[in-house]
Amino acid sequence: MKIAILSSKQSHMEAIRQVLVDGTLRQVMLFEGGLDRLAAIADQERPDIIILDDVCCQQAELAMLEKSTLRYPGMAFILLCENASAEFLINAMRSGVRDVLHLPIEAPALLGTVARVEQKLKMASAPQAQGKVIAFIACKGGSGATFLASNLGYILAEKEAANVVLLDLNLQFGDASLFVSDHVPSNTLADVADNISRLDASFLAASLVHVLPKYGVLAAPEDPEHAVEIKPEHIDTLLNVAKANYDYVILDVGRQLNAMSVKALDHADVIFPVLQETLPFIRDTKRLLHTMQVLGYPKNKIHTIVNRYVKGGDISLSDVESTLGLKVFKTIPNSYESVSASVNQGVPIMKIAKHDPVTKALSEIAHHLVEGQHAKSGGWLSHIFHSA
Ligand SMILES: Nc1ncnc2c1ncn2[C@@H]1O[C@H](COP(=O)(O)OP(=O)(O)OP(=O)(O)O)[C@@H](O)[C@H]1O
Ligand SMILES: [Mg+2]
Repeated sequence: MKIAILSSKQSHMEAIRQVLVDGTLRQVMLFEGGLDRLAAIADQERPDIIILDDVCCQQAELAMLEKSTLRYPGMAFILLCENASAEFLINAMRSGVRDVLHLPIEAPALLGTVARVEQKLKMASAPQAQGKVIAFIACKGGSGATFLASNLGYILAEKEAANVVLLDLNLQFGDASLFVSDHVPSNTLADVADNISRLDASFLAASLVHVLPKYGVLAAPEDPEHAVEIKPEHIDTLLNVAKANYDYVILDVGRQLNAMSVKALDHADVIFPVLQETLPFIRDTKRLLHTMQVLGYPKNKIHTIVNRYVKGGDISLSDVESTLGLKVFKTIPNSYESVSASVNQGVPIMKIAKHDPVTKALSEIAHHLVEGQHAKSGGWLSHIFHSA
């Protein structure tokens, strides 16, 4: 941190400097003179903090100071004043000064204030951590999108120790929470939409069905009647809060492209359209991919998953790829018994069939997502997470 001290008294400045640099890496600069030097110091040196020692303690001087606080809103100004009146303190606040300390200054008070200001400046300049948004969209009903989305969330939290939330955005027939939990959701997306102005991290967490300490599901509204209340603009707010508080925000978008699902997909870092290797699926996938292209989603954001894949079927993977005009990102094997057991009991597949090929394929996706996010370059997902 760069700190400038402006004072009319050389000895005073030196004493303050001693207190501030003691055992730290702070860069402290001293400027002797009055308030008329302030603008030039701020312009030329751009310090993080300016300490004004006994040079701005009159009401009239505050107007001069205000010019600098307005010009440099990211700079912190600390005033050291003798006998500052309550009125002066209020006016100082109005001029953009947040800290006024009384003279003679005590070292602990000064150090405490400077440390607090430094902390605030650091937090303001640090880029806010943002979770990655991963959207699953069914190319056609029954593709397995909900099964894959809900189980990928479980694996990301359990095996990769990530903080995960799954948002079920199926307004008509949302069922994602039932794939991984037998709890009846006490709150749903409709309650969140109803209270959207109050939505914050704790409200969102309280609205989730908690599957694991690090994995929660926001269930879809229990009936379409409640779904009417959910508006596209709610999705922006919900996703902003979710991204700020979870490492991964998984979206079960369902199979309809409408104003709301498009809003959700706009936030997605990765879109996984889920299909199976039959002609009706491939036809609908082609249509969906075309619509996504029209919507302006870059190809490198879209990663198709072929679910219930059986080697040697009527249609080969390369047929699918040439029809769709893009590489299939991943195949998930067909595993009727384990998947049925998981779905029918509402227990994640990893919990009941740890070594099933479906669990393995989902674990690979989870691991690659985490690796891709950490890799600066290379890795098959790093270009997605680092290109935007
Ligand atoms: N890899 C798999 N192997 C075997 N069965 C599977 C597999 N994936 C999904 N299924 C079966 O397919 C059914 C439909 O899956 P799911 O409900 O996830 O599809 P969906 O695309 O979300 O459908 P909807 O359009 O109704 O939302 C599941 O109940 C499950 O039994
Ligand atoms: Mg579904």
